[in-house]
Amino acid sequence: MATVSSREASSVSQFDRWSHSYESGIWSRYFSQSYDAVIESSKKSIKKSTFNVVDVGCGTGLFLQRFSNKIPGVNALTGIDLSKEMIKIARNKKYTAKKIVFSVESSSSMSLETSEYDVVFCLNALHHFPDHREVFKEFSRILRAGGTLILLELFTDGLARKSWLPIMKKIFNERDVEFHNRKELIALGKSANFSLIDGKNYGYFSALNIYEAAK
Ligand SMILES: C[S@@+](CC[C@H](N)C(=O)[O-])C[C@H]1O[C@@H](n2cnc3c(N)ncnc32)[C@H](O)[C@@H]1O
Repeated sequence: MATVSSREASSVSQFDRWSHSYESGIWSRYFSQSYDAVIESSKKSIKKSTFNVVDVGCGTGLFLQRFSNKIPGVNALTGIDLSKEMIKIARNKKYTAKKIVFSVESSSSMSLETSEYDVVFCLNALHHFPDHREVFKEFSRILRAGGTLILLELFTDGLARKSWLPIMKKIFNERDVEFHNRKELIALGKSANFSLIDGKNYGYFSALNIYEAAK
């Protein structure tokens, strides 16, 4: 695994500690409900009858588990997360999907093959990653031409969101998280040759953006 920055190390040690209660807290209810909205939106954008999927910042693998139960045609599923504890929990689950692999890796330097994936998910996680332009480049590298990136991410437009997000940073003691407004999320996509094909809000705080990889 490539070197992990000190920023990543401190964020991940928090997730290591959180991993054991991750699926039972209030936030997990929010995350868990968001998965159904993501799965519904993804149905329209998956164009192939069999496809490879990766979830970057997959946590305990709950999303991939639900996705594989609800969507037919999955060939291979991969979950990437920098927290060893999250991945340990994910690996201990019983999956019905054929091929599912979990790996401890950083979003900035994934060992995944180039142009291997049809769909990349990144849910509730981008703000924890360093260097978002690099991350989008990685998403583009691992996707096939015409592949889909599905991003669920907090966004900052509007006074209420702008005021609430710094409070959340304090509550979770997350010094290094980085949020964007809607325009910036689209620009990040453009910087890595993605075009936005669908963009809506999930709940009040999150943007659910679907991008297509042009290449
Ligand atoms: C809020 S959780 C979201 C997990 C899952 N996607 C969900 O929606 O429930 C963010 C996840 O990102 C992971 N993470 C944080 N920094 C990372 C990095 N640099 N590379 C990969 N994963 C990272 C954390 O370990 C954590 O599991």
